[in-house]
Amino acid sequence: MKPFRIILCDMNKTVTELWTDFIQKTATKNPNLVYIYSGSFDSLIQKLKQDNVNKTKRLYSVVSPGNSFGYLGGGFDLALYNYFGGAPFEKWFRKQLNNEYKPVGSITIVDLNKCENKSLNPTRDGMNYIVHCPTMITPNGPIFNPSEPMKTGVEPVFDATWNSLRYAPENTDAMIISGLCTGYAAVPESLSCKSMIFAIRLYLCDGLLSSECKNVLIMHFLGSPYKAYFPKECEKECERVGIDMEKLRTFNALTDSIDSILPPHLIIE
Ligand code: ADP
Ligand code: NA
Ligand code: NA
Repeated sequence: MKPFRIILCDMNKTVTELWTDFIQKTATKNPNLVYIYSGSFDSLIQKLKQDNVNKTKRLYSVVSPGNSFGYLGGGFDLALYNYFGGAPFEKWFRKQLNNEYKPVGSITIVDLNKCENKSLNPTRDGMNYIVHCPTMITPNGPIFNPSEPMKTGVEPVFDATWNSLRYAPENTDAMIISGLCTGYAAVPESLSCKSMIFAIRLYLCDGLLSSECKNVLIMHFLGSPYKAYFPKECEKECERVGIDMEKLRTFNALTDSIDSILPPHLIIE
C-alpha cells in the first residue's frame, strides 16, 4: 500500500506542540508524510484548498473521534457537523452507520460519494471518507481515570490511532486526524499525543520492521509484555535495527520516550 499523508489538525496549541515534539526527528526526514496544523478544521480546509489550486485534486479522509451512536454534536465532530451541512448531514451520516451502536474500538468507513443530497455536497473540497472511530459510548463524562492511565489513556488512544490508520480507505491521499480523546474524553494531552505519535511512527516504518516486531513493540508500549509472544527471531531483528533490549523490557509509556524503543532512523523515505 502506498503510504498516505497524515494531517494532524487541532486548535489546542498544547496538542500540536506535543505532536511536534514527539515526531520531530522522524518527520523532518520526510516532511511530506506528516503535516501538523495548528488551528480549526475549517481553516485547515481553506488552507488545503489554496495549496491545491492548479494541482491534481487530492482526496481526503477525516477521522471522527466520535461516540457510539454517530451523533456529531460536540468537539471535533461539531466542526464536521457544521462543515458538512448540519442536521441533514448528521441524519445521513447516522444512516450510513445503520443508526446502530458502534462499539468503542470499532471503525466504520463512511463513503461521502454515496451522499445523493446535492445541497449537502460533502465531497466539494475533496473529502471522500469519514472514518468513524468512536472514542466513547456517549459524551456523558470523561473516559480517563487518573488511577488507571494505561487502560483509560494510553491504550484507547493508541488503539483509535492504530485502527484509523489500519482501516484507512485505499483511494485516499491524506487522512486528517485531530487529537484523539483530548476533548470530551479528557485524556491528558501528553499521554494522548505520545500514544498517537507512537502509532503513527509504527505506520511510518512500514516495511522496515516485521509485523512480529511491531507486535512486540506494541505489547511493551501498552504495558502488556509477554515473554512467550516474543519470538527469538524477533529479538534478533530488534537488535539488528538498533532497538535497545533492556529499554524495551523495562519500557513504561508514562515516563519513557518513544525514541528509547523506536529508533528515529526507522522511517520510510
Ligand atoms: P474526544 O471525545 O476524543 O476527546 P473531541 O472531539 O472532544 O474528542 O476532541 C478531540 C480534539 O479535537 C481536541 O483536542 C480538541 O481540541 C479538537 N477540536 C475540537 N474542535 C475542533 C475544531 N473545530 N478544529 C480543530 N480541532 C478541534
Ligand atoms: Na469522542
Ligand atoms: Na468528538
